[in-house]
Parts: sequence; C-alpha cells; structure tokens
Amino acid sequence: MKKLIWGTWLIVTTCLASYYGYTLFKADNKEALLIGDASHGHFQIEMACTACHTSAFGGTESLQESCVNCHAEELEEAHDSHPQKKFTDPRNASQLETIDARYCVSCHTEHQKEQTNPMGLTLPKDYCFHCHQDIGEERDSHKNLTFDSCASAGCHNYHDNRALYEDFLLENHQDSWVKQVAKITEANAASTLAAQFIPTPLPPFAEKKEEHPDIHKDWSSSAHASGNVDCAGCHSTDQLQWIEKPGIEQCQTCHMNEVEGYQAGKHGMRLALNMAGISPAESSLPFKEQSLVLQQSCNSCHEPHTSNTQFASKEACLGCHNDQHSLAFEASPHGQLLNNAIAGRLPANEAVSCATCHMPRQEKNHHGTKVIEVNHNQNHNLRPNEKMIRPVCMQCHSLGFSIDALADEQLINNNFTGKPSAHIPSIDWAIRRSEN
Ligand code: HEC
Ligand code: HEC
Ligand code: HEC
Ligand code: HEC
Ligand code: HEC
Ligand code: HEC
Ligand code: HEC
Ligand code: HEC
Ligand code: HEC
Ligand code: HEC
Repeated sequence: MKKLIWGTWLIVTTCLASYYGYTLFKADNKEALLIGDASHGHFQIEMACTACHTSAFGGTESLQESCVNCHAEELEEAHDSHPQKKFTDPRNASQLETIDARYCVSCHTEHQKEQTNPMGLTLPKDYCFHCHQDIGEERDSHKNLTFDSCASAGCHNYHDNRALYEDFLLENHQDSWVKQVAKITEANAASTLAAQFIPTPLPPFAEKKEEHPDIHKDWSSSAHASGNVDCAGCHSTDQLQWIEKPGIEQCQTCHMNEVEGYQAGKHGMRLALNMAGISPAESSLPFKEQSLVLQQSCNSCHEPHTSNTQFASKEACLGCHNDQHSLAFEASPHGQLLNNAIAGRLPANEAVSCATCHMPRQEKNHHGTKVIEVNHNQNHNLRPNEKMIRPVCMQCHSLGFSIDALADEQLINNNFTGKPSAHIPSIDWAIRRSEN
C-alpha cells in the first residue's frame, strides 16, 4: 500500500513538474500558468519565465542563482550590510528560524503583487525585530523606538548603508546646506573617447548626404562628426550595406557601458532579454498622451543626428513622464538653475537636471583611461533614495540637509521646492555617542 502511494505520488509530481517545465520552457501560452501578477520591479519581464525559473526542477537554489545573476553586482557595490555569508556563519544560525535570510525569496517572493511592498518586499515592516530585539538595551538612543521605524527613511537600510554609516555621518556633519562650491562633475571633452575611434574604410554614403541635407547638417555639428563617426559608423552593416534604421546593436559597438547600464534599469531591461522595449502605455505610472505609442530605445532621449545631451537631460524626459514630481521640476529651484544654464547665465555644471539625479555622471575605467560616463540605469540610485546622497546631493549640499530632504515625501512630490519639514536625528546621535 505504502509503495502504491509512493508510486502514485511520484507519477503525479513528475507529470506536474513536466507540465510546468514544458510550459515554462516551451509552450506559447505561458500566461495560463502565471500564478499571480509580478511585482513592480519585474512586471516588464513577467513573461520571460525562464529568466528566473532557470531550471524546471531547480527549486529555491536555481531561483537564487537567477536573482544573484542579475543583482549581485549592485549589492556588492552597495557593500550589502547583510550578505549571505553573514548567515552561513554558524553563530547566526538561530536567527534563520523565522527568516531564512540566506535566500532572497524569504523577503522578496514573486507573483503576489497585492501583498508586495515598495522595493519588492514581501515582509511586514517591523521584521528587523526578529534578529535585533536587544538593540534598545544596547543603545540608549534606541530605547523607545519602534521596529517599523528602523528602515524608514534616513536611519538604516537592509542592504545599502553607504550614506548612513556612523563614521561617515561624523565626518560630514559640518557643511552649510548649500556648499561653497556647488557643482557636479564636468563631462568629458568629446575628444577623450573619440581618440579611440580610428576611422576604418567604410562607405561614405555620399548620396545619402545629398538626399538628406537636413540630416547632413544636424550631423555636421554633432559630437559624432567631430569624433569622426560618419554616416556609415551607424548605418553600415558588416557587409557595408546601408541600414535604414540603426538600433541599439549599432550604438553598442561603440557605447558598451551605456548599453549595459540602460539594460539594467526600467528603461532598457526588456532589451536585455531580447524583448521589445517597454511602452509608456504598458506602465501604471502617469505618462503624456502623445508618448503612449512610443517604445523605449536609445533614440527615446537622443535625437540620433544631433545627439544633443542637454535636450536628453530634461526635455526628452518630459516628452513622456507626466507625474506630479516630474511636472513640478520646471518651477523648482533646481529647474530655475537649469533654465539659467540653458540661457547661458550659469555654468552648466552648477545646474541640476532630471539626469543630474537620475542618471549621474560617474568615473569609469575605459581600457585603462579614466573617463566620466553617464550612468544609464535610472534605477541605480532610485530606491532606497539615500543612494542619491553620496554621488549626487553631496556634490552641492551638506549630508544632514540631504538626508532630511530625501526623507520628506512632500519635497519629492514638489521636486524639492522648499526646506525639509522634519529633521532626522542620525547625525546628532552619532555625535553624542562619539562624545561619550
Ligand atoms: C522575476 C522572476 C520571476 C519570473 C519572471 C517568473 N517567476 Fe515564477 N516565481 C518566482 C519566484 C521568486 C517564485 C516563488 C518561489 C518561492 O517563494 O519559493 C515563483 C513561483 C512560481 C510558481 C510556484 C511554484 C514554485 O516553483 O514555487 C509557479 C508555478 C511560477 N512561479 C510560474 C511562473 C511562470 C509560468 C512564469 C512566466 C509566465 C514565471 N513564473 C515568471 C519568480 C519569477
Ligand atoms: C533578468 C534579470 C533579473 C532577474 C533574474 C531578477 N531580477 Fe530583480 N530586477 C531586475 C531589474 C532590471 C529590476 C528593475 C530595476 C531595479 O529596480 O533595479 C529589478 C528589480 C528588483 C527589485 C526592486 C524592486 C523595486 O520595486 O524597487 C528587487 C527587490 C529585485 N529585483 C529582487 C529580485 C529577486 C529576489 C530575484 C530572484 C527571484 C530577482 N530580482 C530576479 C532584473 C532581474
Ligand atoms: C531579510 C530580508 C531580505 C533578504 C534575505 C534580501 N533582501 Fe533585498 N531588500 C530587503 C529590504 C528590507 C529592502 C528595502 C531596502 C533596504 O532596506 O535596503 C530590500 C531591497 C532590495 C533591492 C532594491 C534596493 C536596493 O538596495 O538595491 C534589491 C535589488 C534587492 N533587495 C535584492 C535582493 C537580492 C538579490 C537578495 C538575495 C541575494 C536579497 N535582496 C535578499 C530585504 C531583504
Ligand atoms: C535574519 C536576521 C536579520 C535581520 C532580519 C536583520 N538583521 Fe541586521 N544583522 C544581522 C546579523 C547576523 C548581523 C551581523 C552581526 C554581527 O556581525 O555581529 C547584522 C548587522 C546589522 C548592522 C550592523 C551593520 C554593519 O555593517 O556592520 C545593522 C546596522 C543592522 N544589522 C541593522 C538591521 C536593520 C535596520 C534591519 C531591518 C531593516 C536588520 N538589521 C535586519 C541579522 C539580521
Ligand atoms: C550616431 C549614429 C548615427 C549617425 C552617425 C547617423 N545616423 Fe542616420 N539614423 C540613426 C538612427 C538611430 C536612425 C533611426 C531613427 C529611427 O529609428 O527612427 C537614423 C535614421 C536615418 C535615416 C532614415 C530616417 C529619417 O530620419 O529620415 C536617414 C535617411 C539617415 N539616418 C541618414 C543619415 C546620414 C545621411 C548620416 C550622415 C550624415 C547619418 N544618418 C548619420 C543614427 C545615425
Ligand atoms: C562608430 C562608433 C560610434 C557609434 C556606432 C555610435 N557612437 Fe555615439 N559617440 C561616438 C563618439 C566617438 C562620440 C564622441 C565622444 C564623446 O563625446 O566623448 C560619441 C558621442 C555620443 C554622444 C554624446 C554627445 C555629446 O554631445 O557629448 C551620444 C549621446 C551618443 N554618442 C549616442 C549614440 C547613439 C544613441 C548611438 C546609436 C544610434 C551611437 N552614439 C552610435 C561613437 C559612436
Ligand atoms: C532616458 C533618456 C536616455 C536614454 C534612453 C539614453 N540616454 Fe544616453 N544620455 C542621456 C543623457 C541625459 C545624457 C547626458 C547627461 C549629462 O550630460 O550629464 C546621455 C549621455 C550619453 C552619452 C555621452 C557619453 C556619456 O556616457 O557621458 C552617450 C555615449 C550615450 N548617452 C549613449 C546612449 C546609448 C547608446 C543609449 C541606448 C542604450 C542611450 N544613451 C539611451 C539620456 C539617455
Ligand atoms: C519614451 C518615453 C520615456 C522617456 C523619454 C523617458 N522615460 Fe523614464 N520611463 C519610461 C517608461 C515606460 C518607464 C517604465 C515604467 C515602469 O516600469 O512602470 C520609465 C521609468 C523611469 C523611472 C523609474 C520609475 C520607477 O518607478 O522605477 C525613472 C526614474 C525615469 N523613468 C526617469 C526618466 C528620466 C530622468 C528621463 C529623461 C532623462 C526619462 N525617464 C525619459 C518612459 C520614458
Ligand atoms: C534633486 C533630484 C531629482 C531631480 C532633479 C528629479 N528627480 Fe525624479 N526622483 C527623485 C527622487 C528622490 C525620487 C523618489 C525616489 C523614491 O524614494 O521612490 C524620484 C522619483 C522619480 C520617478 C519615479 C516616480 C514613481 O512614482 O515611481 C520618476 C519617473 C522621476 N523621478 C522622473 C523625474 C523627471 C522626469 C525629472 C525631471 C523633469 C526628475 N525626476 C527630477 C529625485 C529627483
Ligand atoms: C549642482 C548642485 C546641486 C545638486 C547636485 C543638488 N542640488 Fe539641491 N540645490 C542646489 C542649489 C544651488 C539650490 C539653491 C537654489 C536657489 O537658492 O534658488 C538647491 C536647492 C535645493 C532645495 C530647495 C531649498 C529651498 O529653500 O527651496 C532642496 C530641497 C534641494 N536642493 C535638495 C537637493 C537634493 C535632495 C539633492 C540630491 C538628490 C540635490 N538638491 C542636488 C544645488 C544642487
């Protein structure tokens, strides 16, 4: 009898697993098997089942591998405060009984959109309690705090605490709210990268220049022209045939890092899986009516023949985005700085555009040369928003002001018009502790 139950169980699970496996990997109608809508972070790739379910029988381990594949680098870069290795330490084993923190899915499961909190979190807000019950006894400052306040803006995060370390708070508590020298990193001179492109003999496509004098004119005064990237740089196949509409593959031959960044964020994540770019019509965020027919690509922000980066840094964004925060930018103090810069009344790197915050310039190593590149993953520093403090706000503001401003929801809604309404005491506590 026991054997029969075993046998039946085995057959049933094998059939089920094969069915799931078949559907996940082969069948056209994957939607039928979807057990619930994917979270805010993953809805774009919901139908790419095998991006996460890398193996039909792999269970938790294979899911874990997929999370790590796409996210390990960013967590490492963030000096993750709770990496898996902290929990494989036998001394911490008892903590795993309630939350098995070795696995991402213990805190970020999928297909439960209704129960998913911001940042893909599927845990109640006071979960720090399970492992840090004693903190109130250990630190006077923490005595009367509730556990749902640990990770609300400005104090701690689970993964990324780079802007909130105690010694960092102490080092940076003295600046005035706007620094004496308030400006962002200078962009590279066009020649820095251009020097690497030795023009190979490509067809001149002279007839195309004649047929399209407007395009020829735009291109002539662009960074591509001064970098010796002729029409063929983008429009030629390997067989030297004309491509009428170059796509991301063409840009990629010269701009690998930008493409990589782009494909790691919400704008380009689908292209990383060879899916069609996301359209505003598919998103639940508010978008301009006329943008609903568009689809994400490099050309969404870069008019291909002028490649005007000033246009890309605000106007392009507002061609699509239509939420309260985006619309408030124009009238904000930062927006006015930008208008002054566009009018030539202020050096460009003393102004703030949408891109200053969402696509900041960062130093990268390019075949041994240090270059300043724009981070094309606009989700890289978006959430938790303390990620913006070090690379963005602190170029111009004090640490304390930046923490307070980013913790203020009203300021986010009005795109930073006015002073923060509340003060986060982290710095004060750190100072008091250092004096004791
Ligand atoms: C972004 C990653 C991701 C994508 C894409 C994804 N899933 Fe999942 N799926 C998960 C996670 C995480 C779980 C939960 C595992 C857990 O909690 O142990 C899960 C659970 C499931 C389960 C329950 C059985 C199990 O293995 O636990 C099914 C069935 C399933 N997914 C089907 C699908 C199908 C069908 C698709 C494509 C239409 C899909 N999934 C796309 C991440 C994903
Ligand atoms: C194919 C690559 C890919 C895989 C596989 C993948 N993710 Fe993601 N994930 C992304 C991208 C792209 C985003 C959106 C950009 C961002 O928020 O960084 C994202 C967003 C997130 C977010 C933030 C959500 C938000 O709303 O801010 C979390 C948390 C997350 N993923 C966890 C996981 C976990 C856990 C797994 C494994 C079950 C997983 N991811 C698998 C690519 C992936
Ligand atoms: C014990 C719970 C827990 C575990 C385990 C966990 N996370 Fe998180 N994760 C969080 C919390 C809480 C947040 C919200 C932001 C914060 O506090 O850092 C978050 C945010 C994120 C984000 C978006 C914000 C950011 O800092 O990038 C990503 C991506 C992410 N987690 C990926 C992962 C991956 C991948 C794993 C597995 C290697 C994992 N998480 C394991 C709790 C967890
Ligand atoms: C599953 C258990 C677990 C959970 C949940 C958890 N932690 Fe931890 N935390 C640990 C362990 C283990 C350490 C390492 C302790 C050590 O090394 O002595 C740690 C270390 C820390 C540290 C010191 C960080 C460092 O860089 O050294 C802080 C701060 C912290 N946790 C805050 C939090 C906050 C805030 C939350 C909730 C958002 C949280 N933890 C949730 C287990 C957990
Ligand atoms: C930096 C890459 C790049 C360079 C250099 C470039 N183009 Fe283009 N061009 C594009 C892209 C991308 C498109 C496709 C736009 C789209 O998909 O609608 C395009 C579209 C076109 C089109 C067809 C669509 C239209 O707007 O009429 C013509 C014709 C054209 N380019 C001519 C030229 C000529 C002539 C030159 C040289 C003077 C040139 N291009 C240089 C990227 C480039
Ligand atoms: C054959 C190589 C090559 C290709 C293909 C190429 N570019 Fe470029 N791109 C360059 C060079 C060289 C520069 C100038 C270097 C610099 O500005 O640092 C440049 C500069 C740029 C700039 C900055 C303009 C500025 O004013 O600073 C943008 C934006 C740009 N490219 C976008 C694109 C897009 C989008 C595509 C695909 C449609 C593309 N490029 C294809 C080589 C290329
Ligand atoms: C969401 C809008 C947006 C999209 C989409 C976009 N870019 Fe950009 N890109 C910008 C902005 C804004 C700048 C300039 C920011 C600055 O000057 O600080 C820029 C700058 C650049 C530069 C100048 C060099 C650098 O990194 O500093 C290159 C090259 C470039 N983009 C290539 C690309 C390519 C290739 C794609 C497609 C994979 C792409 N961009 C998609 C907004 C965008
Ligand atoms: C062609 C239209 C288009 C343009 C142009 C555009 N975006 Fe987006 N943007 C989108 C779409 C679509 C999404 C994905 C929304 C989603 O996942 O629900 C998105 C997502 C984002 C997000 C992430 C939102 C989130 O909740 O995770 C940010 C931030 C963002 N865009 C900022 C910008 C900035 C800054 C610019 C200009 C430099 C810009 N966008 C240009 C269409 C556009
Ligand atoms: C001073 C920095 C700053 C500037 C300038 C800025 N933003 Fe933001 N943006 C933020 C912060 C901070 C958030 C909120 C992140 C969070 O906590 O969720 C945000 C959120 C967003 C979101 C996500 C909204 C959502 O509901 O998911 C979009 C889209 C966006 N910004 C677009 C833009 C556009 C477009 C512009 C320019 C017109 C712009 N932002 C200017 C800092 C900035
Ligand atoms: C390029 C420098 C620069 C960067 C980067 C920058 N700001 Fe500002 N910000 C300023 C200047 C200058 C002002 C004052 C403008 C004025 O007086 O009209 C300002 C004004 C503000 C204000 C409005 C204060 C008021 O009295 O109305 C807030 C809030 C603010 N910034 C927050 C931030 C945050 C948060 C970040 C990072 C996400 C940030 N800023 C990034 C330069 C910058």
